[in-house]
Amino acid sequence: MSAVYDHCYKTVLRLTQEVGKLIRTRINEAKTVNTKDSEIDFVTETDKEVEKTLINGLSAEFPDHKFVGEESTSEGTSQKVVLTDSPTWVIDPVDGTLNFVHGYPHVCVSIALLVEKVPEIAIIYNPVVNQMFTARKGQGAFLNDQPIKASKTEDLSKALVCFEFGCSRNPEKMNFVKENVLKLFPQVHGLRSLGSAALDMAMVACGGADVYLEAGIHAWDIAAGDLIVREAGGVVMDPSGGPFDVLSRRVLCAGTKSLAEQMVKTVTQYHPPRDDAE
Ligand code: IPD
Ligand code: CA
Repeated sequence: MSAVYDHCYKTVLRLTQEVGKLIRTRINEAKTVNTKDSEIDFVTETDKEVEKTLINGLSAEFPDHKFVGEESTSEGTSQKVVLTDSPTWVIDPVDGTLNFVHGYPHVCVSIALLVEKVPEIAIIYNPVVNQMFTARKGQGAFLNDQPIKASKTEDLSKALVCFEFGCSRNPEKMNFVKENVLKLFPQVHGLRSLGSAALDMAMVACGGADVYLEAGIHAWDIAAGDLIVREAGGVVMDPSGGPFDVLSRRVLCAGTKSLAEQMVKTVTQYHPPRDDAE
């Protein structure tokens, strides 16, 4: 099996570098911007082009593989995510689209290959600052080919915490954000919001941040980060402390289990409709 996954890994790396050039070139150019679920949930022609290039390139090599892509899902008649046991590429073509629209350089391509719903390969690539995070199941996590490790911070009062505002105007979601900012801010070293869930997870994987929590994201925002954080020695779970579920739209990851558990005890919860809900 590993020869098959070697082929998958080489192919996806080549395609990621190809689409990375497009993102790097376009980030400071004028864009055509449309909205999706809210007035600040954006999509550009680059998001669509990157997703199409990745799906076309991967299906040319692996015709029986399936895809869950952010833009194909939002263009479909149903926005329900169907995840089977077949090899499936879960793709966010531009995570941090709002950043991309503004020319703020925290943007990335996020891709995971799931087989029987288990991640085998993960890539998070920020082409603007040239940071390529990679992981394969059981083989460790890397930043630009150098091994990375999540932090050993155990105490919330010493933690740098990533927490996103998101791009929803749903009052319940906005209240979740407000309450958690008010709870966390006085208790931690600092709060950071990178504007990309995938990059938040990459920061936890390389020890730049200690913990990240969000609810309201989608499978394509977090599928790659899940493997990269765990291969870097970190933990990934549901914000309630239960097992991580890629379709739940909820994630908590940290360098250590004890830090994650302190977050569970501290934060207000929010349960958005699942990605596989009708
Ligand atoms: C968004 C980013 C953001 C997160 C939002 C996501 P997009 O993805 O990951 O950090 O807070 O929930 O939707 O729209 O830039 O691909
Ligand atoms: Ca995204």
